[in-house]
Amino acid sequence: ADTDVDLESKINALKKSLNAVVLAHYYQESEIQDVADFVGDSLALAQAAAKTDADVIVFCGVHFMAETAKILNPTKQVLLPDLKAGCSLSDRCPPAAFQAFKAKHPDAFVVSYVNSSAAVKAMSDVICTSSNAVKIVHQVPKDRQILFAPDQHLGRHVMKQTGRDMVLWPGSCIVHEIFSEKKLVQLKVEHPDAEVVAHPECEQPVLRHADFIGSTKGILDYVVASPKQKFIVVTEAGILHQMKLKAPQKTYIPAPPDNGCACNECPYMRLNTLEKLYQCMRDRTPELILPEHLQTAARAPLQRMLEWS
Ligand code: 13P
Ligand code: SF4
Repeated sequence: ADTDVDLESKINALKKSLNAVVLAHYYQESEIQDVADFVGDSLALAQAAAKTDADVIVFCGVHFMAETAKILNPTKQVLLPDLKAGCSLSDRCPPAAFQAFKAKHPDAFVVSYVNSSAAVKAMSDVICTSSNAVKIVHQVPKDRQILFAPDQHLGRHVMKQTGRDMVLWPGSCIVHEIFSEKKLVQLKVEHPDAEVVAHPECEQPVLRHADFIGSTKGILDYVVASPKQKFIVVTEAGILHQMKLKAPQKTYIPAPPDNGCACNECPYMRLNTLEKLYQCMRDRTPELILPEHLQTAARAPLQRMLEWS
C-alpha cells in the first residue's frame, strides 16, 4: 500500500499534469491540508474558486462547497474525493419545505447560509458564510423582512450583532450542537488563563462563554494575533492543525462534545482521505455534476455575496 508520502508525491504530480488546484477546508484531516494548494474557510474557498485559472478544481470539503465552486466555474471540472460528504445543515433544509416556508413570507428578503443545497440557494436573494453574515445582513434594505436559513444559531448571533429581526429556519449542525456546556465550563475552571474561541453554529448556552465568536478563518486569525497563550477551541478539531502550524508555541485545547468523544470531528468532512483524494485525481471521478438551470439560478445570489463581501 502507498504511504502518505507516496500519495503526496502522486497528488503533486497529478496537479501538474491535470493543471489542477487542490482546495481544502480547515476541517479536513491534516494530511489533506498539507498537500492542498489553498486551505481556507467557506468564504475564502469560494473566492479562491472564483478566481482560479486551473482547469480542474479538486475540492476537499463537503458537497455544498464543491457545488459552490462549480457554480462559480461552470466550464471547469470539479472533482471531490467522496460524493457522500454532505452536511447536516444542508440536509435539514430540503428544497420543497424551504419553498413552502418562503411562500409564507412572500415579500421577505432571503439570506441563505452557504451550507445549503444549490436548490435552496437558487430560491435566495443573497448567500452568506459565517465570516461575512453580519456584513451581508447589514446591507439588506432596511424596509425588508429577512428570512434566514438554514442555521438558527448563526441566525441568532447575526440578529444580536446587527439588531435586525429575522425569521429563522430551525436548522442546526450535528457537530456544533453537541458541544457540552458543562464540559466547557469545567475546562474554563481548569484553565482560567485560556480564552474561549467558538464558531457561531454552536448553541447559545455554549456561545455565551466565548471570548471570541467567528468563522474558522476568523478564529484562526484571532488566536494567532491574541497575546494570550492558551485557547479552548469550540469548533471542529481539524482547525487545530493550522493553529499549531501558525502559532506553535501556544496551547490549544479542543472542547469536547457531549457524546463521550475527546474531540469533535465532522463525520462528513472526515469521509475524505488522502487515498480518496489521490484516486479522484487519478480517475477524474467522482465529478460534481449540477443541472445547468440550477447553476444559473444559484449563481446570482452567490455573486451578490461576493460583491457585498
Ligand atoms: P466556515 O465558513 O467558518 O469555514 O464554516 C464552515 C462550516 O461548515 C462550519 O461548520
Ligand atoms: Fe456541515 Fe456541521 Fe460538518 Fe460544517 S461541521 S460541514 S455545518 S455538518
